[in-house]
Amino acid sequence: MNDSLSINNEGNSSNNISNRGKRYSKRLVKKKRKVKKIFRYVVLSTVILLIIQGITFFSSSGKENDDSEYNSVNASSKLGESSNLIDESNILILVNRENKIDETYIPNDLVIPNVKFISKNSPNKMLRKETALQLENMFEDAKKEGINLLAVSGYRSYEYQKELYDKKVKRSGKEEADKYVAVPGTSEHQTGFVMDVLSSEYNKLDEGFKYTDAYDWLCNNMDKYGFIIRYPEGKEDITGYEYEPWHLRYVGKEAAKEINDKDITLEEYIENNNVK
Ligand code: DAL
Ligand code: ZN
Repeated sequence: MNDSLSINNEGNSSNNISNRGKRYSKRLVKKKRKVKKIFRYVVLSTVILLIIQGITFFSSSGKENDDSEYNSVNASSKLGESSNLIDESNILILVNRENKIDETYIPNDLVIPNVKFISKNSPNKMLRKETALQLENMFEDAKKEGINLLAVSGYRSYEYQKELYDKKVKRSGKEEADKYVAVPGTSEHQTGFVMDVLSSEYNKLDEGFKYTDAYDWLCNNMDKYGFIIRYPEGKEDITGYEYEPWHLRYVGKEAAKEINDKDITLEEYIENNNVK
């Protein structure tokens, strides 16, 4: 009896233990499920958050690109807001360290020339209409002779020039910056009459461009389209800038011919011809 009782007791207590064990493992399973649920929730929220961030990033970076184009195009419609000091129709306008261009001046007929650019996303593709047409003609004729010219940088707003200048000063110091980059308000890129030009054989904005066939071709032909090398070698004292074989300025065919034939600068041409 005692034995059976003890056996029963033993049986009850082992039952109790196994019941407790079951309850415990059930709780454990529940807990695990809960943890899994929370984990899934956290992962899902993170993924959603990342997707939202991604969408915001891509839409805002796209906007930035659009805006730079939009601002430029829109800017060109601000006719009449430019300075009275600037004669917009004057293709012989002189802009240099002494002759500043008004901060608010924006040419009124900016267009993007139909030529090959060194970079698809360049924010400075525009030129004044006549300059753009002549550039297109020049690029086309050069191509017929196996010369692949590439446009680099055309019209730059005052603000863009400021960014460029400030960056250069930060990187190389003011003295070096002043040799090649105009202080904002003194860059003729703001006139819309300038395009920096390189070629498929040489794509760096440095003096090495002068050894290329493309440069040779330009020297022999650019005046037919109204362009000059604005900062020639050996004329640094007059122009105020180091030699820039890539910086092409539109001045019209007549002036370009005389400037190139006589090997003079725009400053000298203006003085010789009493251009106002
Ligand atoms: N590189 C010329 C001087 C400019 O910045 O306008
Ligand atoms: Zn330039």
